[in-house]
Amino acid sequence: MQTPFSTVLSAVATTIAMIATAARSGRPMSNGAAVSKLITNGITISSSGNCTDRNNPNCTSLEGVLSGTIDTIIALKGYSGCGSLVITGGTETGHDNCPDKTHWNGYKLDVRHAPCLDNYICRTSTSTCVRSDGFPCWTIGGVDGLYCDEGSHWDIVFR
Ligand SMILES: *[C@@H]1O[C@H](CO)[C@@H](O)[C@H](O)[C@H]1NC(C)=O
Ligand SMILES: *[C@@H]1O[C@H](CO)[C@@H](O)[C@H](O)[C@H]1NC(C)=O
Repeated sequence: MQTPFSTVLSAVATTIAMIATAARSGRPMSNGAAVSKLITNGITISSSGNCTDRNNPNCTSLEGVLSGTIDTIIALKGYSGCGSLVITGGTETGHDNCPDKTHWNGYKLDVRHAPCLDNYICRTSTSTCVRSDGFPCWTIGGVDGLYCDEGSHWDIVFR
């Protein structure tokens, strides 16, 4: 029996997507390792509850965040020229309603608005869309990801 060409193509596409994802997302990090790498690079973490328990939605945890996500936000800070950035959401519970590249799985961070970051996203935006929950989103040149403005902060998928 012959394998239909479309099946081959789709298998190839899936493999390429898996390689790309693996390369970008990296490996899960501990909260301590992620925080110290971020602080070294001028990025701080804020939690409304002043805590890091990922099972409490009032905390900001980076337990299990992917190393590619951490590398990418450090690159974003560099490209944007911001002197500092503040992460307000990480891998803690209470964020996600989509099944795949979620906060809990280490792909997403919430980042506080700052003029330098907002200007950078505006200046380099390459496309816009509206997410199903109504928030406006942008892709930008330079740093891969989807940047959604949830009002009080950016919700960013690093993909
Ligand atoms: C957060 O916790 C740290 C360490 O326990 C403490 O020093 C700091 O004052 C706390 N901040 C707030 C806003 O509660
Ligand atoms: C989160 O904070 C709210 C408001 O302060 C509080 O009512 C709630 O009990 C907290 N939740 C947890 C799990 O600590």
